[in-house]
Amino acid sequence: MKDVQRIAIVDPSDATREPLRNLLLSVESVWLEAECSRYEFFIDVAKQSAPDLVVVALDADHGKALQLIQQLTVEIPTLPILAVSARGDGNSILQALRAGAKEFLTAPVVLEELLTAMQRLRAGRVSPDGTPVANGHAGLHSLVVSVIGSRGGVGCTSIAVNLGCNLAQDTNHNVALIDLDLALGDADVALDLVPDYTLADVALNIDRLDMAFLRRSLCKHACGLSVLPHPVQMEDISLIQEEQLGRVINLLRASYSQLIFDLSKRFTTTDLTAMRMSDVVLLVCQLELTSLRNVVRMLHTFGQDAALAEKVKIVVNRVGADDGEITLEKAEETIGQPVFWQVPNDYKAMLGSRNAGEPLLVHSPKCKTQISLVGLANVLSGKDPLQRHAKKERRGFFSFR
Ligand SMILES: Nc1ncnc2c1ncn2[C@@H]1O[C@H](COP(=O)(O)OP(=O)(O)O)[C@@H](O)[C@H]1O
Ligand SMILES: [Mg+2]
Repeated sequence: MKDVQRIAIVDPSDATREPLRNLLLSVESVWLEAECSRYEFFIDVAKQSAPDLVVVALDADHGKALQLIQQLTVEIPTLPILAVSARGDGNSILQALRAGAKEFLTAPVVLEELLTAMQRLRAGRVSPDGTPVANGHAGLHSLVVSVIGSRGGVGCTSIAVNLGCNLAQDTNHNVALIDLDLALGDADVALDLVPDYTLADVALNIDRLDMAFLRRSLCKHACGLSVLPHPVQMEDISLIQEEQLGRVINLLRASYSQLIFDLSKRFTTTDLTAMRMSDVVLLVCQLELTSLRNVVRMLHTFGQDAALAEKVKIVVNRVGADDGEITLEKAEETIGQPVFWQVPNDYKAMLGSRNAGEPLLVHSPKCKTQISLVGLANVLSGKDPLQRHAKKERRGFFSFR
């Protein structure tokens, strides 16, 4: 019985419990340990039957079901919970994950998705000391970062791609980069990826979108970063409505621990939606007049939305590129806000890496730009910026405030 997963399910509705039970019974490695038709009794059932995994169907009563999930996570913290609901929208998923479910499947459950979810839960079982073992998604704890530039070619894609790759080096992270520069994005090119799907496919299929479909739609780079590219055909851009984008982002947040958006320079509604749904907005500029003036203008516009303005952090790219560049002090004075991060200039490494379609961590892992971007990834994930490369780093390049 070593490879058997012992499962207990709760679903007050016979109409949905029976197909779910039949599906579970059709899986050879599943042992149906207990079946319960009342949320109120399920804690006791779970305690007595001590299953490896529980399945909680939400639709009979979402409120009671979520309460049960919360109670289960408190009373049996090591027990993985799989939530099932016909309401597969981002909000329902987030609610279930926030309550403590580890996985969410949209009803009617499809065998293949059930199997992958069970596999992930098996891989992500909590260790005896209570620390969760690395597992697919983060739900509540996801970090969403928008990268927006103050003019073309300022380095957004370079920063977004390399930040994403660096974040993906932590095995506890599950990172996705979404190319929201819908017309001219090139994140896929920067990583030499030939994706099967783009954001347009995901937006078009929004009604049948669930986590499994979404995960399959992203293209994974060898370094661990998942990428959802911009639409291939320009005319497909109009397929992406704001409401759909919001739903896609919510679903992605439920599936990935860090999301990075590479935004356009055109201040579209897509850009604004993405920024509003982000935790951090990295505004990339360079130490020259056009770029800094645009920063001032952009900050002014962001200032009309206090919640958005609060999230904006200034990143100065290509520091040291030019002898005549504006000093950092002068830049901060002009902008009226401290610089959050400085990324040094390394023309050769960056151009070489972009042309090779390789991230810096593969192409030039020791160059100063990469070292600074590792630091940025560390800071954004709440770590010591100097966690890696500590000895090699020149402190001058970090001005984290
Ligand atoms: N820190 C850097 N040092 C040297 N070159 C850089 C740096 N950041 C970006 N570049 C170069 O600048 C160019 C434009 O960068 P890109 O990331 O495509 O900008 P954006 O997405 O803002 O249009 C690229 O050719 C890239 O190689
Ligand atoms: Mg770009």
